[in-house]
Amino acid sequence: MAIDGLTPKQIVEKLDQYIIGQEKAKKAVAVALRNRIRRIHLAEDIRDEVAPKNILMIGPTGSGKTEIARRLAKLVNAPFIKVEATKYTEVGYVGRDVESMIRDLMAVGYNNVKAEMEEQMKEASLPKVEEKLLDLLLPGSSEKDKKTSAPEITPEGAIILPAHLPQEKIDEQKNDESAALTREKFRVMLREGKLEDREVEVTVKRQPRGPSMEIIAGGSLDDLQNGMQDLQNMLMGKNTKKKTVTVREARKILQEETLDSMIDVDKVSDIAKERVEQSGIVFIDEIDKIATKNQNQSGSVSREGVQRDILPIVEGSKVNTKWGVVDTTHILFIAAGAFSMSAPSDLIPELQGRFPLRVELESLKKDDFKRILLEPKNALTKQYTALLATEGLKIEFTEDAIDRMSFLAEDVNSRSENIGARRLHTIMEKVLEDVSFTADEHAGETLVIDAKFVDEKLTGVVADVDLSRYIL
Ligand SMILES: Nc1ncnc2c1ncn2[C@@H]1O[C@H](COP(=O)(O)OP(=O)(O)OP(=O)(O)O)[C@@H](O)[C@H]1O
Ligand SMILES: [Mg+2]
Repeated sequence: MAIDGLTPKQIVEKLDQYIIGQEKAKKAVAVALRNRIRRIHLAEDIRDEVAPKNILMIGPTGSGKTEIARRLAKLVNAPFIKVEATKYTEVGYVGRDVESMIRDLMAVGYNNVKAEMEEQMKEASLPKVEEKLLDLLLPGSSEKDKKTSAPEITPEGAIILPAHLPQEKIDEQKNDESAALTREKFRVMLREGKLEDREVEVTVKRQPRGPSMEIIAGGSLDDLQNGMQDLQNMLMGKNTKKKTVTVREARKILQEETLDSMIDVDKVSDIAKERVEQSGIVFIDEIDKIATKNQNQSGSVSREGVQRDILPIVEGSKVNTKWGVVDTTHILFIAAGAFSMSAPSDLIPELQGRFPLRVELESLKKDDFKRILLEPKNALTKQYTALLATEGLKIEFTEDAIDRMSFLAEDVNSRSENIGARRLHTIMEKVLEDVSFTADEHAGETLVIDAKFVDEKLTGVVADVDLSRYIL
């Protein structure tokens, strides 16, 4: 696993490329990740005793919680899934039950392992794919087709032609020989890439496109859905269709098909299950949205139900999946929420207790905004510069422009709603509104955006609190 080599420090460094500040949160997740790896190296009897310390990230909106999760996902090789708590409903109600997050995690694990295996087998599959391609290009020319009418060949290589062989048989034989020759010629051309645009007819699996089964509510919907899909395919009988594609595309289709047939599904499931159970990570976003202060409010029944349903999963239980039963005991859960309308103490106590590590993300300030505008790999200034460059317009932000926008972001955040770094998006959008609109007319030019430019676009708006409430 790639992550095996990453120390907590290195993990933080990777996160630093995208997330400014929030050192505590970054450290906490880095240590949690590392502990997963440390645990794997323990002797089996102790390993089972070491349960992960689940994390609860608390921070105002737009402070980087989801962003941390997203970046983490790319970083870890372990099965990882990010879900929104609000997507789930209590068992028995229409919607997804919380166990489906484990099923989804297992699906991620399965696909990862499958992709790895496919990568390993790619080399070995190439000759098979080539044969199949030749079959498509020259129907009836393959070895096995020939066998039926081929003449008998002695071990010495002599061809036995019975004297009484009828003329047509002899013709057939000659045909076979020339067919084999043609096949070899085609093979050479194929390897030289001369046939890439040639069209062939392939048989592809029909994409299941039946009506969604979501109408049938209840219990474990996913399992039902999977079952129904298989059933549907069976009933439809034919779930393949012919399709004319270029050799280039056919190769991809055949490659996939060949790899599919080469891979041992059970083995993939076993490895994936082991990985999910030992190193899987579930990131539950928007957990605050299912915390309800007032127990009697309408809707709270279902939300509390979701919390109650989450409990056993976090604690460790067995979840049925398509690929077998998954034990959730050692899966790491990281939950995050703004908790602006509620507090962690509004979660049901049992759930609070299952997230012992609390990390707070700070509200972002002007200096953070400055860095957020410039430093992350996907920084807004970089994004807009690249976008406008496609129109031939070069834009440059001066230091005082960055300074000004950051100041305004903090200012507006403090005076109206604090929406964190998202404020930068609205400000940037407003500053570049006209430029974006007329960029095509200014191809070849360079536009310097300084503080004066920012002020011109924004002062009227910022000064007026009511206006800024709507526009920024
Ligand atoms: N610390 C940060 N460093 C860099 N970018 C950030 C930071 N915080 C937020 N952003 C940017 O702001 C946007 C919103 O951040 P994010 O989605 O992480 O907010 P959040 O904390 O999950 O908020 P919410 O509670 O509303 O879900 C993203 O585009 C992200 O790139
Ligand atoms: Mg979020």
